[in-house]
Amino acid sequence: MTSALPYANGPVHIGHLAGVYVPADIYVRYLRLKGEEVLFVGGSDEHGVPVTQRARKEGITPQDVVDRYHGIIKESFKEFGISFDVYSRTTSDVHHKFASDFFRKLYDEGKLVEQSTQQFYDEKTEKFLTDRDVVGECPYCHKQAYGNQCEEGCGRALEPTELINPRSKETGETPILKETKNWYLPLNEYQQWLKEWILEGHKEWRPNVYGQCKSWLDMDLQPRAMTRDLDWGIPVPVEGADGKVLYVWFDAPIGYISNTKELCDKEPEKHGSWEQWWQSEDTRLVHFIGKDNIVFHCIIFPVMMKAHGKYVMPDNVPSNEFLNLEDDKISTSRNWAVWLNEYLVDFPGKQDVLRYVLTANAPETKDNNFTWKDFQARNNNELVAVYGNFVNRALVLTKKYFDGKVPACGELTDYDKSIVAEFVDVKGKVENLLDQYKFREAQKEAMELARIGNRYLAETEPWKLAKTDMDRVATILNLSLQLVANLSIVFEPFLPFSSKKLREMLNLASFEWTSLGSTELLAEGHELGEVGLLFEKIEDETIQAQLDRLERIKKENEA
Ligand code: MF3
Ligand code: ZN
Repeated sequence: MTSALPYANGPVHIGHLAGVYVPADIYVRYLRLKGEEVLFVGGSDEHGVPVTQRARKEGITPQDVVDRYHGIIKESFKEFGISFDVYSRTTSDVHHKFASDFFRKLYDEGKLVEQSTQQFYDEKTEKFLTDRDVVGECPYCHKQAYGNQCEEGCGRALEPTELINPRSKETGETPILKETKNWYLPLNEYQQWLKEWILEGHKEWRPNVYGQCKSWLDMDLQPRAMTRDLDWGIPVPVEGADGKVLYVWFDAPIGYISNTKELCDKEPEKHGSWEQWWQSEDTRLVHFIGKDNIVFHCIIFPVMMKAHGKYVMPDNVPSNEFLNLEDDKISTSRNWAVWLNEYLVDFPGKQDVLRYVLTANAPETKDNNFTWKDFQARNNNELVAVYGNFVNRALVLTKKYFDGKVPACGELTDYDKSIVAEFVDVKGKVENLLDQYKFREAQKEAMELARIGNRYLAETEPWKLAKTDMDRVATILNLSLQLVANLSIVFEPFLPFSSKKLREMLNLASFEWTSLGSTELLAEGHELGEVGLLFEKIEDETIQAQLDRLERIKKENEA
């Protein structure tokens, strides 16, 4: 399992978490619970123009930039329980050598095409300009535009040479056109194979992913440059290629492989060899990504692997749409985001709340929206009032009437049996949804289990029976505790911190996905641990403080 390597040019925010890392982590945890052999690979994407732009803006080197943000990002993921087996970086030596060798093999076998083109060049800095380093007037709407796109105006995709009065963004100089040689991956030669593999072979991919692939494959694919005239990146390992580096979208996905290698070489007994993961028929490769990454993971990277030979192809590429924040596009440059490192300061210990809300609003089929009011409501009305409340009632009543020991289960009434029948179903339902990467619905089903529990206690009212029929109370609480134990399993992929807490309260050491649906998870007489609150209410002031912060940012942006 891989999740997109985030650019190490800034911290990560809720959009990253919702779109890629939480769904990937849910899926990975689920597979591990089922006893599957899984490797979850992540890392930072440290090359590319976004990193150089940040460095220029702050007046520091690209290496300084990535050193700072790699650390911050890695820490945020750890704090949110994203359970990578390896989280490395594309500036590592292992990666540089691996990506360089990968390129060289394609080059040596004639799988790349050499082509010369005219590119804009800034004579002042003696550098070629990437498309986004050139600015000028849009030939269509006459607004200011970048060399690749008219962002502020009509939105059209552009070529830098189309711009009226083009200038270097960095120096303001008028660039000249200069000839340069680069190496291209002839995507056109793989078009037929791609069509069969994706359009025929993977109709089960999410409609947004399949649709984007289809619209690419319905056009004629063009050869795509795999090298760039740039000084930040992995040097092109070919004679006479001075001043050129591998295109960031060439080296970054190779990072999945090189990071696997780094881990496997370090702990071969534990993880086997990297080839076993990447080049064996039994591997199921899944890439978790955001929608702007689809073409790279469904077309370009597969063609690279195909051209190289031996590699397995992705079995699925579950890609999400975007998450907005309070009805506005999340934007790093406008500081319109909830940064994970800041969330951890403002909401210590509440990682699961954010995980829950982001999954409940996951942008799986369309763009979705995060609002602080919804965050508060889902916490207070669902986590606290449904899940937390049920757990708390079951445990506190057991402490009160049975001294904290699991009471004996007597004969079940028809009503009890109907409740059991309802919750035994949950396993199949959740599995079916998770197998289809429908995380949002899966979490909803898990929550359904807690609702069943609440309904059961409300109907049976064991606190009223305590004076007259302790045997009946024992049965009700036994069943309720079994349900609570089931909740700790079913929620483990979604809310790992709370599940751990809950298992401590239940004094339940290990558990497995296969036991989900069982009414015998806790033996009679088993002693519960200490009971505490699973979730806490979030007050209006806390939410207002977040809204005020966003209001301030909006004002700053307008000023
Ligand atoms: N850094 C890219 C982005 O944030 C994602 C790279 S994914 C990988 O859009 F495949 F290249 F690793
Ligand atoms: Zn325009």
